[in-house]
Amino acid sequence: MEELYKRTHMCGALNAGNAGERVALNGWVQKRRNLGGLIFCDIRDKTGITQVVFDDSVPKELFERADGLRSEYVVGVKGTVRERQSKNPQLPTGDIEIAADSLVIYSEAETPPIYIKDDDKVDDNLRLKYRYLDLRKHGMQQNLTFRHNIAKATREYFDSCGFTEVETPVLIKPTPEGARDYLVPSRVNRGQFYALPQSPQMFKQLLMVGGTDRYYQIVKCFRDEDLRADRQPEFTQVDIEMSFVDVDSVIEVQEGYMKKLLKDIKQVDINTPFPRLAFDEAMERFGSDKPDLRFGFELKKLNDAVAGSEFQVFNDVLESGGDVRGINIEGAAEKFSRKDIDKMLTAIKHYGAKGLFAIKVAEGEIASSLGKFFDQERLQKICDVFPAGAGDLILIVADKPKTVFDSLGFLRRDIAGKLGLLDDSKYEFLWVVDFPLLEFDEETGKYSAMHHPFTSPRLSEAHMLGTQPGKVKALAYDMVLNGVELGGGSIRIHDKNLQKKMFAALGMSNAEVEQKFGFLIEAFKYGTPPHGGIAYGFDRIAMLLSGQHSIREVIAFPKNQAAQCMVCEAPSVAAPEQMEELGIALAPEKADE
Ligand code: AMO
Repeated sequence: MEELYKRTHMCGALNAGNAGERVALNGWVQKRRNLGGLIFCDIRDKTGITQVVFDDSVPKELFERADGLRSEYVVGVKGTVRERQSKNPQLPTGDIEIAADSLVIYSEAETPPIYIKDDDKVDDNLRLKYRYLDLRKHGMQQNLTFRHNIAKATREYFDSCGFTEVETPVLIKPTPEGARDYLVPSRVNRGQFYALPQSPQMFKQLLMVGGTDRYYQIVKCFRDEDLRADRQPEFTQVDIEMSFVDVDSVIEVQEGYMKKLLKDIKQVDINTPFPRLAFDEAMERFGSDKPDLRFGFELKKLNDAVAGSEFQVFNDVLESGGDVRGINIEGAAEKFSRKDIDKMLTAIKHYGAKGLFAIKVAEGEIASSLGKFFDQERLQKICDVFPAGAGDLILIVADKPKTVFDSLGFLRRDIAGKLGLLDDSKYEFLWVVDFPLLEFDEETGKYSAMHHPFTSPRLSEAHMLGTQPGKVKALAYDMVLNGVELGGGSIRIHDKNLQKKMFAALGMSNAEVEQKFGFLIEAFKYGTPPHGGIAYGFDRIAMLLSGQHSIREVIAFPKNQAAQCMVCEAPSVAAPEQMEELGIALAPEKADE
C-alpha cells in the first residue's frame, strides 16, 4: 500500500486564517484542469472542497502524476496554504488554495455513471443503483449527518425524561396490524414462518406489563404496502410507550420532544401546546386528517346554497346523502386556465370524483361552468358562503362525503404548492384527536380498528360499543406537521372486559383473538398498568426538518418505487437448495397472471 498521508484538516475546513500552514488532505478528485504550466485540482470529502495547485516548479514526475488525475480518484495531498489570487465567494474555502508539493494516489476510478454534484438531474433509479456514488454528494452527506443529529437529540431527550431504550424482537409472530406482513420462513421449524414487525406495538405493551414504565426505541419496521414519497417498505420509527398516563401526559412529553428537536436541529423556537383539532373538524375544514395549516383555502359546505337549483348533478348528490363542498382560492381566478382545471379533475378522479366545477369571480360578473343552471344571484349566494370576491376562484366537488373530502383536501394542498405557499421554513404542528374508534368496511361488512384493536375508546362512550360502534371515539392522537402525519398513538385498553367488548365489536371470535393476540391477553391477566404511547416516522421527521420532499433523501439505501433495493438487487429468486432446506415451494403461476 502507498504511504497514507495523515490528514491535518478536512477539505471544507481551511480559510485565509490558515495561510502559510503546511497541511495534508485526503479526498476524491472533483475535477482537474491543466492550464499549461499549472494544474488545478479540486479535492472533495464530506465537508467540502479545497483547490489544490501544482505548478511547474514541482518535480516533473509529480507534475505528470497530477496531470494524470481523473474525477473520483482517491488521493492524498501535502502542501502549503496560500491566499488565492482570484477568490471564489461561493465556496467556504474559496479564499485559499494549497500549493502542493506531494501527491499520493490511493486508488484510481473509472468514469462514474453519475456526476457527483448536488443539483445534477439524473434518473432516480440510476441514483439508487449507484447510491454509494450519490452519497458522495455534499447534500446527501448533510442529510445523513442531519439524521444522525436527530437520532442523537432523540436519545438525549427521552433519556432526560427517564425513558429506557429497549430492543424488541425482529422475528415475531405474523399478526396483521392493518398493513401487510413480510414473512420469513423458519428452517428449524419447517413449515412455520416469522413475520417482520410492522411496529413493536405488542412488545412495547408487554414491556409496560413488565414494569419498564417508560420505553422508547429507534427501530426498523417493515410493511409490505404500496409506496409513496413518504412511505418505504422498511422504515424507522421512534417508538414510545408510557405507564400510568392519560392523553394529556403523553402529549406533553411529545411536545417537549418536538421543542427540543426544533431548537437543537433548526435553532427554531416553537410554541407549545400545539393546537388540537377533532378529526371531524379537520375533515370538514381541510378535507384531511393531516391538514397543512400553512395556508387557508378551507372547505365550505354548499348544500344549502345550491339546494333547489335546476342542476340535476347536485340534486342527485344531495338526495343520495352526498355533499356539495368547495374551496376558494383567493386571487387565483386568472391563474388557472380551463386546461389547468381539467388537469385538476383528472387528478381527483383518483379519489372517485366525477366532476369539478369552477366559479371565477370578476368585478360585476361571476363566470362559471354552472352558469347554465345558476343565475348570478345564486352564484352570488355561493360566493357569500366563503365569502369570495373579485379575482377569486371557487372549486366545487359534489359527491359522497369521503370523495368530496379527499378530492378537495388534495386540491387544497396541490394548488398551494403550485402557488408557492408551502414555505419549508414554517412549522405548523397540530394534534388531530377524537378519531372514530372503528371504521366500517363496506366490502367485508365488518368494523375494523382505525388505529389498532388495543386503542381505548373514550371511556364515557364505551357502553355504545355493542349498540352504536360507529359513534364511539378513540383516545387516539396523531401529530401532524405541515400536512404530514409525523406520528400517531393512543391510550391502550388495559381492562380485560373492555378488551373483550372491543374484540366483539370487531366481529372477532374467541378463537381468532386467541390465535392473533393470545399472548398479550394472557399477559394482561397478571397486573397491567394503564398505559399509552405513540410512534413517529423517524424518516419523516428527518425529511421535514431537512426540507426534503421524499423520505428517500434521508435514507442511506432506500428502496425504489417497486420496493427493490437497486444496490444489492433485492428481492431476488432464492436458490432451489435454499427453498428445499426451508421446505417451501412456489405455487405454479396461474394462467391469467
Ligand atoms: P402507525 O401505523 O400510525 O402507528 O405508524 C406510526 C408512524 O410511522 C410512520 N410510518 C411510516 N413511515 C414510512 N414508511 C411507512 N411505510 C410508514 N408507515 C408508518 C408514520 C406514522 O405516523 N404502533 C403504532 C403506534 C402507536 O400506537 O403507538 C403504529 O405503528 O409517520
